[in-house]
Amino acid sequence: MTYRTPSDGDPSSRFRLPYTVEPRRYQLHLIPDLESATFSGTVSIEAEAHDKVSVITLHAEELEVRSATVTSGDGLAQRVQLAELAQPAQPAEPAEPADAEHQDRISLVLGEPLAAGPLLITLEFTGILNDKLHGFYRSTFTDADGVQHTIATTQFEATDARRAFPCFDEPDRKAVFGISLDVPAGLDAFSNGPVVSEETLPGGGRRLRFADTIPMSTYLVAFVVGPLVSSEPVDVDGIPVRVVHVPGREAMTSFALEAAAHALRFFAEWFGLPYPAEKLDLVAIPDFAFGAMENLGCVTFRETALLADLDRASRLELERVADVVSHEIAHMWFGDLVTMKWWNGIWLNEAFATLMELMCVDHFRPEWQRWASFAAEREAAMGTDGLHSTRPVEYPVGPPEEAQGMFDVLTYEKGAAVLRMLERYLGGDRFRQGIRLYLSKHRLANTETADLWDALEQATGEPVGQIMDTWILQGGFPIVVAERTGDVTTLRQEPFSYAPADATSAIGRDWRVPVLARPLSALPAEPWRLLLADQPAALPDAREPVLVNAGASGFYRVQYDDQSLLALADRVGDLSPMERATLLGDTWAALVAGHGGLGQFLSLAEALRRETDADVWAQVASALGFLDLVVVDEDRPVLAAYTRALVGPAFASLGWQGRPDDDDERTATLRAKLLGTLGTVGADAEVRQRCMALHGAALDGGPDLDPDLAPAVVAVVAAAGGEKEFEAFLARQRAPRTPQEEVRYLFALAGFDQPELARRAFEVATTEARTQNGPFLIQQMLGHRSNGPATWARLTSQWDTLVELFPANIFPRMLDAVQRLCRQAALADEVRSFLADHPVPSGQRSVAQAVERLGVNVTVAQRLSGAMAGELSSGIDRLA
Ligand code: BES
Ligand code: ZN
Repeated sequence: MTYRTPSDGDPSSRFRLPYTVEPRRYQLHLIPDLESATFSGTVSIEAEAHDKVSVITLHAEELEVRSATVTSGDGLAQRVQLAELAQPAQPAEPAEPADAEHQDRISLVLGEPLAAGPLLITLEFTGILNDKLHGFYRSTFTDADGVQHTIATTQFEATDARRAFPCFDEPDRKAVFGISLDVPAGLDAFSNGPVVSEETLPGGGRRLRFADTIPMSTYLVAFVVGPLVSSEPVDVDGIPVRVVHVPGREAMTSFALEAAAHALRFFAEWFGLPYPAEKLDLVAIPDFAFGAMENLGCVTFRETALLADLDRASRLELERVADVVSHEIAHMWFGDLVTMKWWNGIWLNEAFATLMELMCVDHFRPEWQRWASFAAEREAAMGTDGLHSTRPVEYPVGPPEEAQGMFDVLTYEKGAAVLRMLERYLGGDRFRQGIRLYLSKHRLANTETADLWDALEQATGEPVGQIMDTWILQGGFPIVVAERTGDVTTLRQEPFSYAPADATSAIGRDWRVPVLARPLSALPAEPWRLLLADQPAALPDAREPVLVNAGASGFYRVQYDDQSLLALADRVGDLSPMERATLLGDTWAALVAGHGGLGQFLSLAEALRRETDADVWAQVASALGFLDLVVVDEDRPVLAAYTRALVGPAFASLGWQGRPDDDDERTATLRAKLLGTLGTVGADAEVRQRCMALHGAALDGGPDLDPDLAPAVVAVVAAAGGEKEFEAFLARQRAPRTPQEEVRYLFALAGFDQPELARRAFEVATTEARTQNGPFLIQQMLGHRSNGPATWARLTSQWDTLVELFPANIFPRMLDAVQRLCRQAALADEVRSFLADHPVPSGQRSVAQAVERLGVNVTVAQRLSGAMAGELSSGIDRLA
């Protein structure tokens, strides 16, 4: 390997460890003490010095290093003085930066400089198992007998491996990890590799040694110790796969195992490379900050993302498990085997895993039509990306903390959507060839975004880098304006935004838009391809209406002239469900941006009233939900009546019960969507009553709720219910039968209208709820039409306590809901100024986006308030 140096122009260079010493292999031994929530450990790092060294700098945070020895190639050991260790770290580069920035480092000052060549660095250290869900941390659970148990587990991405052991904690310092753990009696342990040896320790515990890993980044190391049990391994083409969980959840592992087996085979085939580890454990952890983490061979999950009872989970809850399992398994190749050089590359890691997750789940259960439901996720990304406070998907990352702000809808959903747009434009086979080339060329190494474009260019001959740079390196996206004169449709692009631009806008100017289009009756399989640049371009002549964004995989919006839009609305049957959902999304966005009236959107929704697709209805339901948030009190009954007129007949034709002739599993999802909308926004008396009755009976030991309907029924019961139901939810949440049921009832506490119940729900969020869930309950309450303002008041008065209590990275997600506090302009101002005075660590950009969106929503609410009742009443007449 050559001796690398961070390049001069690189904004991260002053935050990087020097490359003079490079790790090759870690021998890591850890002794966790779960009772005292502490650990001790020893790490021996085989490294190579490229030059003479007198100081070795590595990462360590909240660790007490007890001793350090450095041995040179000639076998002579130097003990590094503890006094020197205790000193503030030496800056990596003499002049800067300030020491405060480097508290997460230690420098080993050698008495005698060592010559270039092999080194062995050995450190002994101790630390605490924290409660912050990062580093080496503690998770707890209570068993059926009320006894509390502790698990010690890890979460290292992005930069918390340094909290568990001293290391070169940067993604391009790949090394082999040989891990061993002292496991107290009665507990089990899991890590990246399989166990290769086991010895009994005096006092009853065991020492487990795990096989060496492939060379990999520190952020992918994992170890878990606790009273956990694992399912019998399933052999997937030679790879043993297990699900690891707390005792008692044995019956909830089969679905994840099936999804994992499918994903392993799917990816090995798709990528053309074997799975890069020896085994795969999927570990469900009761306290977990994110959804899941792709540690090589030892993926960790929150319980709802892994464990599901097939008889009790809704199809969407199962889809979530399949999504997360597939996503993390995609990372085993894309992320773990081939890794970004630095944190600016996080987007590629996550966007690509999201793209592959969708492809994999679409292959696993084609009848679920995963791409169609992705349309709603892409819509959310466009919602953020149409704000001036958006950001480019990739931006230079200096200090690694800056990367934390990258884990958002722009990285995941926009990133995946623009990759999908590219894949559809290039064609699936050619795209895959490029990816295979990229992976085989860079396996076990590190890359930058341009390496991927290079491989795709090589495989396809298309100007991939030129196209993609416009989507990745600048914020925003275009609206493609389609104008038809005679048989000719001309296209041009403009930046899309919800509000007039100011000087600070992060929205770009023009894009290379890979447009797919088709005449309406043509086969969707053969669309026209056109690369739209800054000059207008014409599509081929057509006698009939033309659909731009055919296949609906573009990350852009389309604006048709009025006549074309009417023609399309007239022939919605010639559009695929995803195309219909996308047309609705574009029409709604025009309304929010102030270009289209409510009447235009309602007419399109009414044209779709015989729609049978769940994702198209989801788009309608989400618009109705927004109207229900902003409507003035007097007009709320008209909105409810409109909702019943629009949604009622569709629900009536489905009925309450699944029928044997239900055409697919999505029908049940559709039924739930319509039922939930009627029972909440529609305030439908009959639906509410029936939901209360069904729910009451199920709680009293009667028949269980239909798993697909249960989430909607619970939401309706909250909207219609009172204290009695609140108590029942609370009790169920405390003694749930499945992880999904626990969060379903917990989060539904936010749906009660009564102020006193909202107060109690807030208390639950900040006391008994796990800190992984509390912020999401508050998020729901902030977004609630009547309880939002009081929730905001509580949140701000307890701000400091909550900052202490909740994992830092969940905070921005919770605050996303402030965009819904839009009915009183004065409150919106208060939100703006409070958040300006109370910056959220590493979440500033998402907060700025939520605040900008709040402003947009205030404007929309005001604009709609005058005309809403009239528009809705005419709609009711049209529907009658
Ligand atoms: N690598 C991430 C987990 C992660 C997120 C680590 C943020 C550090 C910061 C993992 O692969 C992931 O993307 N998890 C998602 C779930 C996934 C299915 C989208 C998550 O945790 O939300
Ligand atoms: Zn991921």
